[in-house]
Amino acid sequence: MATNGNSYATTKPPPNPSPLRNAKFFQANMRILVTGGAGFIGSHLVDRLMQNEKNEVVVVDNYFTGSKDNLKQWFGHPRFELIRHDVTQPLLIEVDQIYHLACPASPIFYKYNPVKTIKTNVIGTLNMLGLAKRVGARILLTSTSEVYGDPLVHPQDESYWGNVNPIGVRSCYDEGKRVAETLMFDYHRQHGIEIRIARIFNTYGPRMNIDDGRVVSNFIAQAIRNEPLTIQSPGTQTRSFCYVDGLIRLMEGSNTGPINIGNPGEFTMIELAETVKELINPKVEIQHVDNTPDDPRQRKPVITKAKELLGWEPTIKLREGLPLMEEDFRKRLGITRTP
Ligand SMILES: NC(=O)c1ccc[n+]([C@@H]2O[C@H](COP(=O)([O-])OP(=O)(O)OC[C@H]3O[C@@H](n4cnc5c(N)ncnc54)[C@H](O)[C@@H]3O)[C@@H](O)[C@H]2O)c1
Repeated sequence: MATNGNSYATTKPPPNPSPLRNAKFFQANMRILVTGGAGFIGSHLVDRLMQNEKNEVVVVDNYFTGSKDNLKQWFGHPRFELIRHDVTQPLLIEVDQIYHLACPASPIFYKYNPVKTIKTNVIGTLNMLGLAKRVGARILLTSTSEVYGDPLVHPQDESYWGNVNPIGVRSCYDEGKRVAETLMFDYHRQHGIEIRIARIFNTYGPRMNIDDGRVVSNFIAQAIRNEPLTIQSPGTQTRSFCYVDGLIRLMEGSNTGPINIGNPGEFTMIELAETVKELINPKVEIQHVDNTPDDPRQRKPVITKAKELLGWEPTIKLREGLPLMEEDFRKRLGITRTP
């Protein structure tokens, strides 16, 4: 039985898994659904899951922010299946585990259609929990550091309840994820569903959408195109980034979470811009522009739980991660590095 070391978890037994789970005559022992699997984190997760020959991976995505291109290496593989589907609609499928990632994650996209974003978080999560209940699957939600809002406590551990504006332009995402977490725990307590919640802090890496408004992808694309790096004022706001990871350990472990998955190495947007300038294009200019409302001033995870309960901590430093992303962006933009 999963425990979180706190009073939120239940001792109610989980629903019976499908009898197929133990069947020996199937090719794979574990059928895993990844919603949002055509996106940035989802496609890296699929790569990792596909490395295990005992896994069969089904991806569901509506391609709002994701792309088939991220998964093309798996097309035609007998253990891989891709379904165009919107999670706001019910899905009938037989699976053992669900990684529920589907949700636009960048402000440009979620502000473009906030109503759809909150529907994806609320109705989409309800549909996936309904599926988990029907087939007895374990379900992991990729929640976010945005549930802490503009935090009044620094750094943030999982016991902090957050400081979120319920009516702002970011609320469709922040409050949507908060409701999604609530739904996860309600299904867990009421129906015994096995849940896992990861609170991911700003992650970056190859396959992120170019120009998607997230700070690392913006700076790298701007540096490659020789455009000024635009820092939203005041530039002293901090973030901590981590490379893709930890989710499989959480799914396979015995803790419900929520568990922070992030990098406690914190730096300001000015420091980030300067690092990008130094590594990618020393000639590029740095410009200050107006900030968006409700942009959190400080973000830094406490990752004691991830270390102790999952044995996980980020291993790739920013200075190692940025060049990997630069290489991917250059290939996609068709701009080679000039000496
Ligand atoms: N990248 C980060 O820094 C970060 C930080 C915290 C949390 N997260 C969470 O991780 C998950 C993945 O984020 P990402 O960075 O890979 O974003 P992404 O936009 O690259 O991927 C999201 C995927 O979900 C799909 N999608 C969106 N709405 C859908 C719907 N209604 N039905 C089906 N598919 C839908 C998109 O097409 C896309 O492929 C999200 O849940 C996000 O909230 C990401």
